[in-house]
Amino acid sequence: MTQPLRQGLAVGHAAPHAISSRLAGLLRRAYLSDMTDRADSSETADFGFRTVAADEKQHLVRDVFDSVAARYDLMNDLMSGGLHRLWKRECIAMLRPSIDRTLLDVAGGTGDIAFLWRRRGGGPAIVCDINPAMVAQGRDRGIDRGMLDGIEWLCGDAERLPLPDRSVDAATIAFGLRNVTDKPAALADICRVLRPGGRFLCLEFSAVSVPLLGELYDRYSFAVLPRIGEIVAGDGEAYRYLVESIRRFPPQAELADMMREAGFGQVSWRDLSGGIVAIHSGWRL
Ligand SMILES: C[S@@+](CC[C@H](N)C(=O)[O-])C[C@H]1O[C@@H](n2cnc3c(N)ncnc32)[C@H](O)[C@@H]1O
Repeated sequence: MTQPLRQGLAVGHAAPHAISSRLAGLLRRAYLSDMTDRADSSETADFGFRTVAADEKQHLVRDVFDSVAARYDLMNDLMSGGLHRLWKRECIAMLRPSIDRTLLDVAGGTGDIAFLWRRRGGGPAIVCDINPAMVAQGRDRGIDRGMLDGIEWLCGDAERLPLPDRSVDAATIAFGLRNVTDKPAALADICRVLRPGGRFLCLEFSAVSVPLLGELYDRYSFAVLPRIGEIVAGDGEAYRYLVESIRRFPPQAELADMMREAGFGQVSWRDLSGGIVAIHSGWRL
């Protein structure tokens, strides 16, 4: 059941728990050897409020998610008061799942979007994430939920997806794009793998449009979230990065422009919860 897929590694549906750590090790080695290909970049990228070498950013982001993978789902619930579930449901509702369509969830982490897609009647789902620990965590959740069929777990980079051109009917990236080093490259590659007529949705933290809410949200984010991260996940710094990365992410109109430049048509967005998050939509025409 375990099939290599171009540069990605597919994780079979029925792998038992016992091989989790070995599998994570294999995926990690594959990822690290892939990273050596690009060690000569002289570009820079933001890492939270810091500016770092572009090739360093991926290692730092990997460390963040290595560190939080085991507690990632619990932290999502605690930090958002469960709201992330509603935002993700909204995203899937917009896609109108159907059994004859394949969804690619980029930076899919522990699989929330793929599980929802399948539960709402969607066809096959492919989760592609660069971090082996997150992929292994998601795959284990799939086993625990008895959702072994119809979800393929891939380890791969959003900037060069291990999938053929025009191979999926719909694509999502939820809370993933801000962690990607070269966002225009990732958007262009998502457009490449979408079939013409396919829809792409980006669910991401965005610019709050309600002034008082913005102030409260800022205080909560900077004062409370790293402390929750420290207590629950044992890593306050990882959550400080997450908060800072949200502030550095392009606001709604700017992200819409990036999507148009990447090749998407009919780009639009919807704010949810006063702009704390936005769902951007684009089509491959
Ligand atoms: C905040 S988590 C979101 C996970 C999931 N989509 C969700 O909504 O719960 C961000 C994810 O992006 C992944 N990621 C970061 N850079 C990536 C890249 N270049 N390509 C693919 N995944 C990436 C991380 O490994 C992590 O799992």
